[in-house]
Amino acid sequence: MPEATEHLVADTEGYARAAQLLREGGLVAFPTETVYGLGGDARNDMAVAGIFEAKGRPRFNPLIVHVDSPETARRYVEWSDAADRLASAFWPGPLTLVLPLRPDAGLSPLVTADLPTLAIRVPAHPVARALLRAFGGPLAGPSANPSGRISPTTAAHVAAGLDGRIAAILDGGACGVGVESTILGLAEGPTLLRPGGLPVEAIEAALGGPVARRGANDPLTAPGQMTSHYAPGARVRLEATEARESEVLLGFGAVECDLNLSPAGDLREAAANLFHHLHALDATGAEGIAVSPIPQAGLGLAINDRLRRAAAPRE
Ligand code: TXA
Ligand code: MG
Repeated sequence: MPEATEHLVADTEGYARAAQLLREGGLVAFPTETVYGLGGDARNDMAVAGIFEAKGRPRFNPLIVHVDSPETARRYVEWSDAADRLASAFWPGPLTLVLPLRPDAGLSPLVTADLPTLAIRVPAHPVARALLRAFGGPLAGPSANPSGRISPTTAAHVAAGLDGRIAAILDGGACGVGVESTILGLAEGPTLLRPGGLPVEAIEAALGGPVARRGANDPLTAPGQMTSHYAPGARVRLEATEARESEVLLGFGAVECDLNLSPAGDLREAAANLFHHLHALDATGAEGIAVSPIPQAGLGLAINDRLRRAAAPRE
């Protein structure tokens, strides 16, 4: 849906307007020290679904959540000594930590793509920090570029890719680091999941020990690729027109069903509801979940990707 994108100056008025748009579920691009991020309220399913839609991201990859301080981060993830050491040494800054998600975090399951871990960081850019303070909540934020294009390091880059698709762009000049943050997995032993703005040697020095390195294409670096993470207990059957015996029906559009992803056939609403509804239907104890056909367009690609993984034969 085209919308008039507001171009905001990074001053008191600009922060207040950006925070208001975020509270309303709007998307605001903002500068970080690495690249511009496309921010949305990480607790709001429709906002997070909107991020995938605006980027045209064909799959629900988990997103990084931005917070204002290590203290705030501890509300969302299970903290550890290693996290403490790294946060003291490198936050705010271009380091993202992947830690176990707290069960009481209250974030949209779309942020983590329903994984049990959360990628979180405290950005250093003064404009990002002022925006987080004005908004007062966690911001989900992938790089603010259409899927498949290079990451933006100026407001003009963002506008070239996303004008008309997001609520606002907060202009904070050019990004200093220019490459994305380093992502370090801490849910198990320290593991480099993505090299980035902070050299891994600096992390090893702070931890006083080695960091495991994995190849960029190692499937373990991208848990979103693992089928089992998306598999409910119940069997999943796609392209269903009705529920068979011992099945419940997850509908889309004007169909009679147990739960409907979007009675109006709105893909953004369906994306926002997807994980919630799968969990809810799984909790009924039904043997199978039948799912209505979802159009293979826009967010439908991401929805169908996840549904296919859920329906894939189990190991
Ligand atoms: O510098 C950055 O990190 C920028 C700025 C805006 O903060 N953000 C960024 O986000 O690069 P994005 O969405 O483009 O990249 C996020 C990466 C993805 O490769 C995703 O697979 C990985 O983080 N990721 C997110 N959550 C994860 C998790 N729970 N476990 C492992 N990887 C995760
Ligand atoms: Mg990116």
